Amino acid sequence: MTQKEAQLKIGNQTVNLPIYSGTYGNDVIGISDLGKAGVFTYDPGFMATAACESKITYIDGDKGVLLYRGYPIEQLAEESDFLEVCYLLLNGELPNAVQKQTFSKQINNHTMLHEQISLFYRGFRRDAHPMAVMVGVVGALSAFYHDSLDINNPSHREIAAFRLIAKMPTIAAMCYKYHIGQPFMYPQNRLSYAENFLYMLFGVPSEEYQPNPVIARALDRIFILHADHEQNASTSTVRLAGSTGANPFACISAGIAALWGPAHGGANEACLNMLKEIGDVSQIKKYVDRAKDPKDPFRLMGFGHRVYKNYDPRAKVMRETCHEVLEAVGAKNEPLFKIAMELERIALEDDYFIEKKLYPNVDYYSGITLSAIGIPTNMFTVIFALARTVGWISHWNEMHANNSRIGRPRQLYTGPAERDFVPVKKR
Ligand code: SDX
Repeated sequence: MTQKEAQLKIGNQTVNLPIYSGTYGNDVIGISDLGKAGVFTYDPGFMATAACESKITYIDGDKGVLLYRGYPIEQLAEESDFLEVCYLLLNGELPNAVQKQTFSKQINNHTMLHEQISLFYRGFRRDAHPMAVMVGVVGALSAFYHDSLDINNPSHREIAAFRLIAKMPTIAAMCYKYHIGQPFMYPQNRLSYAENFLYMLFGVPSEEYQPNPVIARALDRIFILHADHEQNASTSTVRLAGSTGANPFACISAGIAALWGPAHGGANEACLNMLKEIGDVSQIKKYVDRAKDPKDPFRLMGFGHRVYKNYDPRAKVMRETCHEVLEAVGAKNEPLFKIAMELERIALEDDYFIEKKLYPNVDYYSGITLSAIGIPTNMFTVIFALARTVGWISHWNEMHANNSRIGRPRQLYTGPAERDFVPVKKR
């Protein structure tokens, strides 16, 4: 980081603050010493606050750019595969052929779960939301693996990353199987990462199951698109939890909980439910008008983004993948897809959405694609969490490798001034 300076005048004092520049993006003003001048900065929702330095992912919201370790998401989605992207996000470089094969074997060594883990599912009702189950089961993993709990040991951090990347598909598929009352399927390491997930999701002990290669490729691409996204709410949650030295599995469980919100990763499920509620292209205008009404809390799910004020580059790839999958499963006249295309057209022509720079985000088409693959709506965010785990654990690892301090935001206190206690008989 190069160093320039900003001057802040506060009353009759001038505070000199360092300015740092990165590879791309806005310069940042170092404010850590502002407290000495008797002030804090105030930025609810972190609209303009960089909480850390990172080398993993870069987003340019105006140009619709997303880079994983410098590689454009469009190229990775087209030419790479998810496991290769996991290696890239974790290590900073694309693997060569030997590294790729070794990494794949390392992940495959951890795809199964300790048999005791399957008992945790039994404690949930069958109709429990799969995200609630996933939060619980991933958190329970922190009760295992006492062989590698030293987060300051890079090899312990690496084995935690391998275990999480390897086990999330198994855990996710088990959430689904438990929900529908079918037996759990053990992973088959002869299959690719996405094929294995489809096998554990849709395979049954009584039948042969061969994953559809088009669907497997589409799923692998969906994993790539969702793998990481800078300091979004769930990644920031994992970093903050990790900064206390907490167990990595517990930190990822916290990330899953944050992702579940409909304003974040829960939007794909909310978007599909919204399209179902709209029900017909004739009803679109009513919902668009509701979304524009400041008195109505309704928002168009799958539209808008804190950073992308242009097109979400992932939405562009997701839209193409959606077409491919609908073609492959013979559902290209899928009514929901038609509603989605018409809603996108109407919204993108509407002054409200143009003025507020609201474009379809990655969640807009992922729901329709997953639905066409036969994945139930309440599993959509589970799949988002499966994919985002590598991003979360990469940021967690980067934070520990940089010996980051515990995160402890300050506040603007507007509560009561100090006052004496009043005994109940005098109240
Ligand atoms: C993800 O951060 C990430 O990187 C997240 C993510 C990732 O990969 O980790 O990209 C994944 O979370 C994608 C976003 C999925 N969420 C949704 O699709 C839910 C619908 N979108 C909105 O809730 C909203 O757009 C957010 C939460 C995504 C962004 O919220 P911001 O940046 O806080 O923007 P805002 O709420 O301040 O909205 C700005 C204005 C507001 O109007 P005014 O107060 O200025 O009058 O735009 C309006 C909002 O009312 N607005 C919408 C809208 N989104 C914003 N109006 C109608 N429909 C919408 N979807």
